[in-house]
Amino acid sequence: MTGTPMAFFQGELMPLAEAKIGLMTHAFNYGTAVFEGIRANWSAEHEELYLFRTAEHIKRLRRSAKVLEMEIRYSDEEILEALYQVVSQSGFQEDLYIRPMVYKSQQVLGVRLHDVEDDLLIYCSPFGAYLDVDAGIRCCTSSWRRVEDTAIPARAKVTGIYVNSALAKTEAWHRGYDEAIMLSSDGHVSEGSGENIFMVVDGVLYTPPPQDNILVGITRATAIELAERELGLKTVERSIARSELYGADEVFLTGTAAHCTPVLEIDDRKVGDGKIGPIAGQVQKLYFDVMLNRLPQYGHWVEAVYKGNLVQA
Ligand SMILES: Cc1ncc(COP(=O)(O)O)c(C=O)c1O
Repeated sequence: MTGTPMAFFQGELMPLAEAKIGLMTHAFNYGTAVFEGIRANWSAEHEELYLFRTAEHIKRLRRSAKVLEMEIRYSDEEILEALYQVVSQSGFQEDLYIRPMVYKSQQVLGVRLHDVEDDLLIYCSPFGAYLDVDAGIRCCTSSWRRVEDTAIPARAKVTGIYVNSALAKTEAWHRGYDEAIMLSSDGHVSEGSGENIFMVVDGVLYTPPPQDNILVGITRATAIELAERELGLKTVERSIARSELYGADEVFLTGTAAHCTPVLEIDDRKVGDGKIGPIAGQVQKLYFDVMLNRLPQYGHWVEAVYKGNLVQA
């Protein structure tokens, strides 16, 4: 059964195809919106669609909105209900990406944050694998530096910042790589164009701290917790030099879109032996098991959309 993507737009639920913004919408002209990417993961085994860590995404959406001086006029419960309605009414039985966005919705000219109305919208879309999560990927260091907190804070998921990510991603694509790794302006490893990065050295995980201009990822937090609780592995948050990645035993990327994707090559050098490493493999398996609700101890991170009420076409 295929679904019809729905949207929550201007306070109402409607087909995504009918939800339109005007040309003068502030967010469209100036990048003045903040957003989230949330996954709903289809489990063929349970015939159920599972939302992953929605509460954490809503919390980050609120933090991002503060940076752009936006008030979200909906409570967390109302946002979650709207999100749930969008997904359940869309009726898909496949992996989805859900996009809540708080945007400067007024049709008005003028670069500013104040005196511009904002609104919440939510839509969903079918979305499969973003990177080759099974086979692993090849990365390059980007010539584009990660945007600094003193320019646009990367910890806020602001639409306008994604020009920085898009420049890096497309440069990597032109050069024949799967993904870009961006450095901060002082030369430390920051993150991928849409993922956080981990390296493994002698059984210890390392990942850049928030002050190296990362988006503080929810998948990153999930990987850190799973590695510690299930594998007994510590993660150290510290700045990482580019050359450290070359000598690492393993490198992997984490993100809502990318899940946990092993990196097999960086700047034409094999990472470890160039194969998926044991720790990346175990973290990935745990993450998949959790998001597909196979591990009851992490059941509080997932929420069933259809709750067994799926009507077969
Ligand atoms: C730039 C950037 N870094 C990291 C991430 C990973 O964050 P999360 O795991 O919350 O999806 C994302 C994805 O949203 C991103 O766009």
